[in-house]
Amino acid sequence: MKALITGGAGYIGSHTLIALSDAGYDFVVYDNLCNSSKESLARVSKIINRDIDFVEGDIRDKKRLQELFTTYKIDAVIHFAGLKAVGESVEQPIRYYDNNVNGTLVLLDIMQEFKCKKIVFSSSATVYGDPVSTPIEESFRVGGTTNPYGTSKYMIERILEDLVISDSSFQAVILRYFNPVGAHESGTIGEDPNGIPNNLMPFISQVAVGKREYLSVFGGDYDTKDGTGVRDYIHVVDLADAHVKALNYINSKQFNTKNLTFNIGMGVGYSVLDMVKAFERVSKREVPYKIVQRRAGDIAKCFANSLLAKEVLGWSALKTIEDMCIDSWRWQSNNPNGYSDK
Ligand code: NAD
Ligand code: UFG
Repeated sequence: MKALITGGAGYIGSHTLIALSDAGYDFVVYDNLCNSSKESLARVSKIINRDIDFVEGDIRDKKRLQELFTTYKIDAVIHFAGLKAVGESVEQPIRYYDNNVNGTLVLLDIMQEFKCKKIVFSSSATVYGDPVSTPIEESFRVGGTTNPYGTSKYMIERILEDLVISDSSFQAVILRYFNPVGAHESGTIGEDPNGIPNNLMPFISQVAVGKREYLSVFGGDYDTKDGTGVRDYIHVVDLADAHVKALNYINSKQFNTKNLTFNIGMGVGYSVLDMVKAFERVSKREVPYKIVQRRAGDIAKCFANSLLAKEVLGWSALKTIEDMCIDSWRWQSNNPNGYSDK
């Protein structure tokens, strides 16, 4: 079984390649490298001890995808390719809708042309907007998104649901990731954000390694245990494993269109200060912080009920926040400048 991994050179994609290889899945990576480099693939190749088939290209490039589907017999697609910066999406909505929504439409069109009918899609807890309560269940209302990035994920979910209704032989699994963090235990691959990190974990790691002076904690007056925002952090290696479980499910007789969408989180909420303290414990470095204004668009609490993934996919998160911090720290301290340290 050969899977096409769009966006496979990126943070989550590169970790998923290892999980797929360990599970015996064959794959080809397709990526335009707009937010990644071939170095991540070279390092994955070392970890899995084999060459990786890679085609450089854009998911909006119909001709290139046709060539790829002609060269390789693709049985399923894991679709990571997308732009993901929330703030940037507010400034550049057309670029985000074009890349994420239009790109997915082109990909689905080619899949139909080549009769490839299995897809696992990277969605996000962002589709829930500000939830009425926590933990969040898959049946909660979606679509109350607050930025074009989130709306693009919501739109793609709807497109996939409509496709499944229109063609009973088309199989889709939608994984709604909560907050992916951490890195592979080798310390050779990890998250490598451009410029100033938007997300908490890479920011904390860069403060601990001395690249940045202090962490700005966005808001200390939320209705949470210590006033700081609460999230469901999920180790990227556990998240990678969810994709293998999703492919297994799609290929099994258990696949049922009633269960297409799964929350992928640990099911526990940690505050910003919990993460700071855990990181300080494992790195034995101080992480200075200042509590500043809330960040526009942030919500107080977001964590998952992930029991459906456990029941149907046989997946649950195994790694702890200590593991997340240890592995992030190993990656950051071995590669203070990310992949440009090669
Ligand atoms: P990433 O930016 O590291 O990886 C995405 C990859 O897709 C990159 O390698 C990029 O070069 C590639 N890409 C982007 N547009 C492309 C295009 N038009 N054609 C071909 N390749 C393209 O991001 P990630 O953190 O690995 O995220 C993977 C997926 O998971 C994304 O769809 C993202 O929206 C989703 N997701 C991420 C998070 C998170 O916090 N990291 C949370 C929820 C959902
Ligand atoms: N935070 C800070 N300081 C920082 C960065 C973040 O205090 O420098 C706080 C935020 O206010 C929030 C928490 O840390 O309370 C987590 O923030 P992140 O930016 O790491 O993550 P978000 O929950 O805002 O968003 C992430 C992804 C989105 C995705 C969303 C839901 O970035 O793409 O999770 O899954 F949509």
